[in-house]
Amino acid sequence: MHDLSPKILPSLLAADWSRVGDEVKRAEAAGAPWLHLDVMDGAFVDNISFGPQMVQTVRKCTDMYLDVHLMIHRADHYLERFIKAGANNITIHVEANYDTSVAETLKRIRAAGLHAGIALHPSTPFSAALPYVKDIDLLLVMTVVPGFGGQPFMEKETMPKLAEARDYRDAHGLGFHLEVDGGIYTTTAPIAKKHGANLFVCGTSSFGPADMKQAVADLAASVR
Ligand code: DX5
Ligand code: ZN
Repeated sequence: MHDLSPKILPSLLAADWSRVGDEVKRAEAAGAPWLHLDVMDGAFVDNISFGPQMVQTVRKCTDMYLDVHLMIHRADHYLERFIKAGANNITIHVEANYDTSVAETLKRIRAAGLHAGIALHPSTPFSAALPYVKDIDLLLVMTVVPGFGGQPFMEKETMPKLAEARDYRDAHGLGFHLEVDGGIYTTTAPIAKKHGANLFVCGTSSFGPADMKQAVADLAASVR
């Protein structure tokens, strides 16, 4: 079983990449226990961010738990590189293409001793995750369309699904984390918490403000 207490996860996508080492330290000093790293391939999503080398770079800067969100096709093809780079959790999208399969990829992530997550696009129903719920440590309910930071929180499209996932998990004695990602602020985080979330990915709302420590403290207070 996982510790399902609320956690704020700054998303590196919103950091100043010209000072990535300092930014990781800033997140660490702000007291965030996990760091969220958004990998984008320009094919599964209409944006390109960074790859395993950035994960390796961040790994060298911190002992924080690295929550790697693969918004890519063929995550199985690239998997070893993200494992070697030092990820702690690897989340893959059910909607992406694989050389093998989602199930096979999740198995490999766990076999490597990492935590495994499944992510759902706002338009993907919870039922798409059902085949995998026994093989995951984390279910990521995207609250924006994957690909960009700074988008508005999609409440009506995603909160019923989040509550459905929580109810299913609790009714079946499962213990996976429920993570939300995109448009998370002190105003929207409590809504997600009410519907079952315990992991809150915050890009703009955490790295954006000059005083990140205060921003993370405010976000944490909003979901306490
Ligand atoms: C979007 C990413 C999110 C994004 C969050 O595809 O998965 O993690 O960085 O951005 P904000 O918090 O700025 O909405
Ligand atoms: Zn993300």
